[in-house]
Amino acid sequence: MFRTIARYGARQAPGAWRAAMRALLSGQGVRGPAIREFEERFASYHGVRHAVAASYGRMAFYYILRALDLPAGSEILIPALTFWVVPEMARVAGLKPVFVDVDPHTYTLDPRALATALTERTRAVVPTHLYGQPCDMNAILTVAERHGLIVIEDCAHALGATYRGRKVGTFGHAAFFSFQLLKGLNTYGGGMAITDDDALARRIRRLAEAEPWPSALSVLGKLVLGWLQQVFISPRGFTFSLFPVFWLASLLGDRDVSAFLWEKIRRLDPLPASYRRRYSNAQAVIGLRALDHVEEWNARSRQYARRLSEGLAGIASLALPRPLPETEPVYYQYCIRVSDPEALTRRAIRRGIDIEMMHVDICSTLPLFASEARPCPIAETAAETRQLPVYSGLRPSDVERIVRVIREISRDLPPLGIAAGEVAAHGRFD
Ligand SMILES: Cc1ncc(COP(=O)(O)O)c(C=O)c1O
Repeated sequence: MFRTIARYGARQAPGAWRAAMRALLSGQGVRGPAIREFEERFASYHGVRHAVAASYGRMAFYYILRALDLPAGSEILIPALTFWVVPEMARVAGLKPVFVDVDPHTYTLDPRALATALTERTRAVVPTHLYGQPCDMNAILTVAERHGLIVIEDCAHALGATYRGRKVGTFGHAAFFSFQLLKGLNTYGGGMAITDDDALARRIRRLAEAEPWPSALSVLGKLVLGWLQQVFISPRGFTFSLFPVFWLASLLGDRDVSAFLWEKIRRLDPLPASYRRRYSNAQAVIGLRALDHVEEWNARSRQYARRLSEGLAGIASLALPRPLPETEPVYYQYCIRVSDPEALTRRAIRRGIDIEMMHVDICSTLPLFASEARPCPIAETAAETRQLPVYSGLRPSDVERIVRVIREISRDLPPLGIAAGEVAAHGRFD
């Protein structure tokens, strides 16, 4: 059968979805003992004292911010390249996001750029371990300590990644994780805040637990919607649903039709009602089972990333990920820079491989943050990046195929380093 490769894969432990449904049918879909057990196991996985579950990763971040009780209008440094909800939630929490440029090799927060963004109102910084690559934590912590900044790690992409042998999320005052469908640990939505600070944890928990419980019907809706989305990105589901659409679109130009599937960029004040809910027991049942597998899943993605790096080395039109020394990324995404990203995407989809464009946002240029706009030239080059599939659900033969196809279709692209105008002068690459 013709097999296509979707850009995303969802992780799920065997039997977890059915276990969650059983919990729902037995009346323990909403409240139940799995929530506290999941929090405790999540905390001990990280070797920290406290973990508090939330309806979203963004809400875990929001509770951390509210629990810190920083003066209104305090500035919080956020990498310019991140998911737009992060600076938006900071704004909802009454803070002013200040965008900081990223490192040209890892695309994570550049510690050297922090100095340019500091003012007397700066109170916090958010190192985002983007695409599962740990940030330069030592350098960031040095700046943070010097200026008395609170450090909140965004680990939405990086569950299980390590920096100098220690798990990300354990370096700052607090950290948050996302359990959306595509993340390293998927519970069809949800998030977690972790911290070692007892008083902060108490305040975070008070905020999270003040929210109303979701209805059993809405928990069921999450599980069913998640299951459907999983079908759409499974090899067969993707081949007969989204793939033909992407393939046709590739004939009509370089419009990224997948953009229609993204969450609409918008103001989040007031917070949507669906955010203001507690995390459910059925989801925690899934999370507990996933925790038993996360190391094995991460090891597989890492092995696939190694194979991609080996197989794609030496191609002049591509720059491959360059994680920092002494880090172990989890490769939520395998991010490459490409001299002609549109041509690569178009050619790949025609060969049955769907590749992702950015996945996050260049927040410093979004109209939503017009009043916070700041030049962040490296983040702006992220439009030249693409993310190759590297998820643990791939087969080794899929990865070999990705290597073969990407080598073939990138061979005649112009070498990196040629300015965009000159790429145009090379003509359209088809
Ligand atoms: C970098 C980053 N931070 C935070 C989040 C927010 O997580 P959630 O969607 O669970 O609120 C995401 C979501 O994709 C993300 O990519």
